[in-house]
Amino acid sequence: MERNLALEFVRVTEAAALSCGRLMGRGDEVAADQAAVDAMRRAFDWVNIRGEIVIGEGERDEAPMLYLGEKVGRGHDGDTEVDIACDPLEGTTLCATGGQNALSVIAIAERGGFLKAPDTYMEKIAVGPKAKGAIDLSKSPTANLRAIADAKGVYIEDLTVVILNRPRHERLIKEVRTAGARIQLIGDGDLAPAVATCFDDSGVDVLMGIGGAPEGVLAAAAIRSCGGDIQGRLKPRGAEDIERAARMGIADVERIWHLEELAHGDVMFAATGVTGGEFLKGVRYFAGGAKTHSVVMRSKSGTVRYLETDHHFERKPNYGW
Ligand code: FBP
Repeated sequence: MERNLALEFVRVTEAAALSCGRLMGRGDEVAADQAAVDAMRRAFDWVNIRGEIVIGEGERDEAPMLYLGEKVGRGHDGDTEVDIACDPLEGTTLCATGGQNALSVIAIAERGGFLKAPDTYMEKIAVGPKAKGAIDLSKSPTANLRAIADAKGVYIEDLTVVILNRPRHERLIKEVRTAGARIQLIGDGDLAPAVATCFDDSGVDVLMGIGGAPEGVLAAAAIRSCGGDIQGRLKPRGAEDIERAARMGIADVERIWHLEELAHGDVMFAATGVTGGEFLKGVRYFAGGAKTHSVVMRSKSGTVRYLETDHHFERKPNYGW
């Protein structure tokens, strides 16, 4: 894949973040999500690719835009063919309430590079580069924390584990507390902390627990570029989810998916902060424009590039509202 594409994609996440960022704290999740979806869908037309959405807003009958299988991009002969995983607004509630870590996200791979994960739950464990190879979802949380602490040369008590604050995690939280690790319970948005494990100064060592499967694949794309590690296992909510998984080519829902199976080959990841958080600042509006903070990563080079961008709406009416 052409490396400059990564910068093209950041324009797409910027457009989505600028649009839904306007609705931060308004208490309207649907409107915030719709604003992000509309802006991202429009912005895809600016990119010289022949793209297909493989992780997006859902199946065609339930999502009018960015649905699975939708073709996006300029689509000219000779434009690069890519698979796209996107979440125009990761953390709709976070945006609606002004909470931390709402992001606009895209990951791009060569055709077939992403696990086509159904829109169900996934049990995940994610760590940064120092603990790469130390995680094993078939083992207990305690065994994983022991292995992660050993790999990082610290005590379990030094580790900070991020877990979504959900009743389904009662046992997990109890076990992590018994093991002695520090816990950060979050209300929503497990993608940002999964990626944050890769950055020493984020203060996040491990992400554990059950969250969205699409967010697991998106996290894997970023973690591939940063040298960390993630494993995931689908947690279907019932027979319908199992059928959905089967339709998407996953017959064994018990299977543990490793990093390279979630996102393989040449992968790029772009994200723009909607609200501020562990590794990206949120959108800040000023007279006639706004400032965004984004990150672009490539698995091939391992480059992680941050962009702080000033947008002037008068000169760039696509971004003006
Ligand atoms: P949305 O952006 O779809 O609202 O997802 C937010 C999120 O918190 C994800 O980060 C997480 O993986 C998932 O929802 C958890 O799902 P649930 O809220 O059902 O526990």
